[in-house]
Amino acid sequence: MSTTPDPAPVPLNGPLLHSDPARAYREMRREHGSVVPVLLDGDVPAWLVLGYRELHQVTGDPALFSRDPELWNQWDDIPEDWPLRAMISRRQPSIMHTVGEEHHRRAAMLVAALEAVNPFDLRTRTERFADELIDAICPRGTADLVGEFAMRLPVRVLAWLFGFDDEDGPGLVTALNDIADGRDHDRSGQMLLLTSMTRLVAARRAEPADDVVSRMLADPAGCTDEEIVHDLTVMLGAGHLPTADWIGNSLRLMLTDNRFAASLFGGRNSIAEAMNEVLWEDTPNQNVAGRWASRDTRLGGRLIRAGDLLLLGLQGANSDPQVRTDGSALTGGNHAHFSFGHGDHRCPFPAQEIAEVIARTGIGVLLDRLPDIDLAVPAASLTRRPSPFMRGLSELPVTFTPTPALNGTLA
Ligand code: HEM
Repeated sequence: MSTTPDPAPVPLNGPLLHSDPARAYREMRREHGSVVPVLLDGDVPAWLVLGYRELHQVTGDPALFSRDPELWNQWDDIPEDWPLRAMISRRQPSIMHTVGEEHHRRAAMLVAALEAVNPFDLRTRTERFADELIDAICPRGTADLVGEFAMRLPVRVLAWLFGFDDEDGPGLVTALNDIADGRDHDRSGQMLLLTSMTRLVAARRAEPADDVVSRMLADPAGCTDEEIVHDLTVMLGAGHLPTADWIGNSLRLMLTDNRFAASLFGGRNSIAEAMNEVLWEDTPNQNVAGRWASRDTRLGGRLIRAGDLLLLGLQGANSDPQVRTDGSALTGGNHAHFSFGHGDHRCPFPAQEIAEVIARTGIGVLLDRLPDIDLAVPAASLTRRPSPFMRGLSELPVTFTPTPALNGTLA
């Protein structure tokens, strides 16, 4: 097979990627094909895999396209203060960056601990946390549903699932959102996460309970406490922000698209439809870093060198015209999108279900409690956080008829 000569790489930032990513991916595909040479911050080269077929190839072959960042051929040129070091770093002893047998052992343990979550308890607890958040805003008649709801709900539920006390929740919310939004300059958020996880693991080692941490500690595969602390931290990070963005992006769709207007007045049927459409069209994890080629190979007509970094272009693959042949909706009941990844390192199935319950329940409670919710600003003025990796709203200002909190107060 011949290879296409490498065109000039595309910087992976710029206003179009944030304002109209569908168009940005379409243009990249037209000019460069399904595997696009891109430049990350500091002109660091990588490949963005936008083709659905090529992405299957990459995620389905963990030996050739490894999750091990040690393979990267750019480490010598990466400065200590490179802004993406939090996402791509050499020593990450968590499930995400282990490979082969070690990864299978860690993944099996994590899946078993998440599978044992009782879906009824999960729903009930999500309703309770959602009610608390709505109590804080409902007497006002105005709110930012991203900052005051979507960005607070998933971390509270996940912290409870792991085994944290309710009092730990607000501190974890602040730490995680500061890290996600790049505000954790003094790394105090990172430190709080690490010390909180370490304390929880030690407490459950001494006295087990019915929670994710205790189940991981009791697993016969026997991970060390340190490994469990790292996997819990990764899970909280990998779970919170995409679920928060899933909630925010789905609410935006329901508030701006007439097809979903009816559900705002009590019908819950189209919540699931809106959520599925978001995973196809406006997915939280737009691009994921990544995989590293373990030897020279060819992909989508390009020559990939050993050690090259490949970014998983999940949104690009979801809108690949080769799978969306009529250029229209596949969304309905079709779940063949790439939004949870694919292959050995895909989002674990019970984690996907947990995210789904949190998002669907949270949106349901919100629409039940505030049925006449409406956008407070023109839809066109809504902005996204500027990231080529995660796609979420900066804020979602709404108005509604003020109602008393559940404890009866109308401020
Ligand atoms: C809307 C919500 C979510 C989305 C869109 C999402 C998406 C993803 C994607 C795309 C990956 C694959 C990364 C790769 O292939 O390199 C992934 C991995 C992962 N996700 Fe999720 N995720 C979500 C929620 C969650 C939740 C709630 C949890 C935990 C309870 C979780 C835990 C994980 C873990 C542990 C991995 C790493 C798996 C591994 O490397 O073996 N995710 N997720």
